[in-house]
Amino acid sequence: MVPRMSLLPLTPDELLSTTRAVRKRLDFDRPVPDDLIRECVQLSMQSPSGSNDPTMQFVVVRDPAKKAAIGEIYQQCFGMYKNWDGVYIGSIDKGSDDANAQQARSAASADYLGERMGDAPALIIACNTGGRADGLPGSMSANIFGNILPAMWSFMLAARARGMGTCWTTLHLFQEQAVADVLGIPFDQVQQACLSPLAFTVGTDFKPAARPDADSIIHWDQW
Ligand SMILES: Cc1cc2nc3c(=O)[nH]c(=O)nc-3n(C[C@H](O)[C@H](O)[C@H](O)COP(=O)(O)O)c2cc1C
Repeated sequence: MVPRMSLLPLTPDELLSTTRAVRKRLDFDRPVPDDLIRECVQLSMQSPSGSNDPTMQFVVVRDPAKKAAIGEIYQQCFGMYKNWDGVYIGSIDKGSDDANAQQARSAASADYLGERMGDAPALIIACNTGGRADGLPGSMSANIFGNILPAMWSFMLAARARGMGTCWTTLHLFQEQAVADVLGIPFDQVQQACLSPLAFTVGTDFKPAARPDADSIIHWDQW
């Protein structure tokens, strides 16, 4: 497939290292063309799938009433998460003043999206029709989530390459059934995995984030 929309001049490594969780720099006022979303989904289908059986599906929500309903559910779930000490992004001690200042900025950004999720031009919900993961052993739930998470990340990379921002979120899964009901997703058969806003970004300059050094997380030959 030849992309029709113009791409940002990013090298592969720049794309991989600057695809951030975008919240405050989402342009809520600029519509996102359907064709651009279609291109990102098409590219995401090049991701791997168990048994070469691509069971991933994307729900693209543009309808203002449905976006508002999902935004409200997300906000309620975010409220629960915010009271969860040690899990809420703003309650995690990163061990240094600099890192804690960055964490506080991320928390403020997450709070902002908690209020504005429903205002994004489009919401993307990544799903898998291969069944539900509830209560399954790890070997099987890994297959269910593995059939959608790489595709969703590819979607996000493709979106960034086209000047759009996304933010991986999972909090709505506290009320997954309520979101399924808003969208007519058959809850018993379809596992939702991720909800993301999709919008053009305000500016396109994003930087690599501070992350652990590779040598601190690699186990060569032995854990
Ligand atoms: C499994 C997972 C769940 C996440 N859930 C949320 C969420 O519900 N809400 C949110 O605002 N961000 C969520 N995030 C985004 C993270 O906060 C973000 O990836 C992290 O802070 C790093 O941000 P950065 O890549 O911009 O540096 C989630 C990310 C992952 C991988």
